[in-house]
Amino acid sequence: MSAIPRLKHFTDLNGITSEQFWGLLRLAKRLKDERQQRGANEPILANKSLAMIFQKPSLRTRVSFEMGMQHLGGYGFYLSPQEVGLGSRETAPDVARVLSGYVDGIMARVFDHQHILDMAAWGSVPVINGLSDFSHPCQALTDIFTAWEHLGDLADRTMVYVGDGDNNVATSLIMAAGKVGMNVRIVAPVGYTPSHEVLGAGEGEVAITDDLDGVIGADILYTDVWTSMGQEEQREQRLQIFPPYQVNAELLARTQNKEVLVMHCLPAHRGEEITDDVADGSASVLFPQAHNRLHAQKAVLAHLLGNVPLD
Ligand code: CP
Ligand code: NVA
Repeated sequence: MSAIPRLKHFTDLNGITSEQFWGLLRLAKRLKDERQQRGANEPILANKSLAMIFQKPSLRTRVSFEMGMQHLGGYGFYLSPQEVGLGSRETAPDVARVLSGYVDGIMARVFDHQHILDMAAWGSVPVINGLSDFSHPCQALTDIFTAWEHLGDLADRTMVYVGDGDNNVATSLIMAAGKVGMNVRIVAPVGYTPSHEVLGAGEGEVAITDDLDGVIGADILYTDVWTSMGQEEQREQRLQIFPPYQVNAELLARTQNKEVLVMHCLPAHRGEEITDDVADGSASVLFPQAHNRLHAQKAVLAHLLGNVPLD
């Protein structure tokens, strides 16, 4: 069997093959199992460091990357929006070229996706997208990992994403689900559906509807905030449009699947896109999903910074 080609960066999912994606999922499982069974991972990133640039707030991404580096014997450190001034104080290519002389990898959370691509193009160390306005690949890798843990075989399972179908999380889920043979349905108001560019990048079937009956038969019901970071000035307008798409007990029943799983990338605006009873109910896997950010990203770090092969 030939080796799975190495990834250089993790900027997005559209350049990653299905076998590379599965390789990351399997590596995440090995690292999670290793830590659970032995209490610690091998220090495969000893003497390696990760610069973590944030232009937007974060809980999960910041903490899971920092702890992920520590679990693997390396060091991750936070850089605030003010101190770096990515794209304002200094260009993204210059930031990447400078950091490449100090660290072994860069993880960045940005507004403009082009900043991620520029850093990958100009730096000489791996670049990881920790969320951009366009995509959130670490989240989607985690989400598929979580689905795999809970459902087993993913082929022909149906992921229904309800809400803003044009945001970064929906975009990455569309790209990710096709790689593992899942069907994707986007249930979203007119005007908030995925762009043609995103649909072209997905590998599987993607159905789009504004009809809530689109949730029927869902194996996973997924939602995210109606107003993403950076869209705050549209909040009032979005609050007029999205309420019919709230994930609540009625919508859960409408899936006609008693075993449906509810997912949300978090943070949640409880009482808007999801109700408390559903977020905290028996169908919810919100917190195992959040915890899996750690394990999925450790696979990305081990592969990109530690040269651990995908198999
Ligand atoms: N889901 C996610 O990326 O969470 P944070 O914004 O807290 O990092
Ligand atoms: N779509 C959300 C995801 C947050 C993790 C945002 O960009 O704010």
